[in-house]
Amino acid sequence: MQQPTRIAPSILSADFAKLGEEVRAVDAAGADYIHVDVMDGHFVPNLTIGPAVVKALRPHSKKVFDVHLMISPVDPYLEEFANAGADIITAHPEAGAHTHRTIQEIKRLGKKAGVSLNPATHPSAVDYLLGDVDLILVMSVNPGFGGQKFIRSQLEKLRVLRQRIDQLDRPIDLEVDGGINIDTAPEAIAAGADVLVAGTATFAGGAGQYAANIAKLRGDD
Ligand code: DX5
Ligand code: ZN
Repeated sequence: MQQPTRIAPSILSADFAKLGEEVRAVDAAGADYIHVDVMDGHFVPNLTIGPAVVKALRPHSKKVFDVHLMISPVDPYLEEFANAGADIITAHPEAGAHTHRTIQEIKRLGKKAGVSLNPATHPSAVDYLLGDVDLILVMSVNPGFGGQKFIRSQLEKLRVLRQRIDQLDRPIDLEVDGGINIDTAPEAIAAGADVLVAGTATFAGGAGQYAANIAKLRGDD
């Protein structure tokens, strides 16, 4: 069943010179998850942050740390991210041959496991993982950068996955990531998403706006 909408600010759009303060600010502003985009300059054409930064940020918030790994290979780094304080660890099947093994390893480490699908990846890629994963992330932009335009074809993918999740007897978060703003958020929610990642739209206007930005994305007013 679709759960209440939760907002996951992507700290990719935060001020990297004061990341701890930014995490505290979005926490206080009502963020549900803290979304951490990890990029390796290989699986995606950008380099961001590693486990040391996750560890440094951990004391700044008790919210769920939702760590989105856009790295290949991924398996050698899972334990470091788990130890750094990740609560959910999400990996891309496109980044390696053994997604099932990766998901099992995340669970062995005691963390919630997510699988993320690029825009061109068919939703059936998760068919044989549905019994294991806690979160499915639909990329509504090509991974690598914040501030891109929402790819509308992903609404259909959200609808397909919402139906599949609803046939199960346990909850799986259906998260959408990329180009989420006050126009696309209601469409993504209507299509079945219950966790919205938002970088640009959360951090727009500076800290004084974060609470209002998050409330609008959630559809609170
Ligand atoms: C893209 C990342 C996203 C991104 C979202 O590869 O996974 O989390 O930061 O940024 P916006 O909300 O600006 O599209
Ligand atoms: Zn992300």
